[in-house]
Amino acid sequence: MITIVVASSKGGAGKSTLSVHLSVAAWLVGERVLLLDADPQGSSFAWSQAREADGPTVRAVEPSEVQSALRKAASEGYGVVFIDTQPRAAASLTNIARGADLAVLPVRPTPFDLDTSKPTARIVAAAGVPFAFVLNACKPRSPDIALSREVLAEVGSVFEETIGDRTVYARSLQTGRSCQEYEPTSDAAREIARLWSEIARRTDVVPTR
Ligand SMILES: Nc1ncnc2c1ncn2[C@@H]1O[C@H](COP(=O)(O)OP(=O)(O)OP(=O)(O)O)[C@@H](O)[C@H]1O
Ligand SMILES: [Mg+2]
Repeated sequence: MITIVVASSKGGAGKSTLSVHLSVAAWLVGERVLLLDADPQGSSFAWSQAREADGPTVRAVEPSEVQSALRKAASEGYGVVFIDTQPRAAASLTNIARGADLAVLPVRPTPFDLDTSKPTARIVAAAGVPFAFVLNACKPRSPDIALSREVLAEVGSVFEETIGDRTVYARSLQTGRSCQEYEPTSDAAREIARLWSEIARRTDVVPTR
């Protein structure tokens, strides 16, 4: 079972948006996917309540219950588990991330967001978890993308794929779907599928189709 924790100390970086979209991306290619919503705000779990499709499974858990939820998931045969986390989770993130295969750290390409990316990286690295930043909500052709990539590359790995600033992300989530289901031919759908492919390569997820 591959476990991927999505974290950022900064609120609103895109943790829930990406947790849900990546969970659906993996599910759409045939993985058995569980999304653990470890944020008391419950954004990912609320999305699942509006969803009609029969996957991926979404469970709300207390941060302190994540490790036992992971053991249960392994015994149930899940192949990929995403964990959506709360902002400013410093204390609990160490425990949540323990044993994860990868931490995906969304960062918006703004100076404030870049500043707060380091502490999150430090926490997951100290827990022994490999991490990579993903630039989220990027304006098309903005010079900030390349500049942010350079700044982040000094701290750690950065995904090739960047995620655009697109209204379809929120719009699709409102209807209990992902952009791949809501607008399958959109740029958003393509970039999410590519980001999942990058994650699958890094974590050695064996493609099911
Ligand atoms: N790529 C994107 N394009 C456009 N809007 C986005 C994008 N990613 C996130 N947003 C918007 O930014 C806001 C915050 O996103 P989200 O809730 O995913 O962040 P979060 O990191 O989970 O926040 P929190 O720290 O509160 O849990 C939401 O309104 C969401 O629709
Ligand atoms: Mg969230």
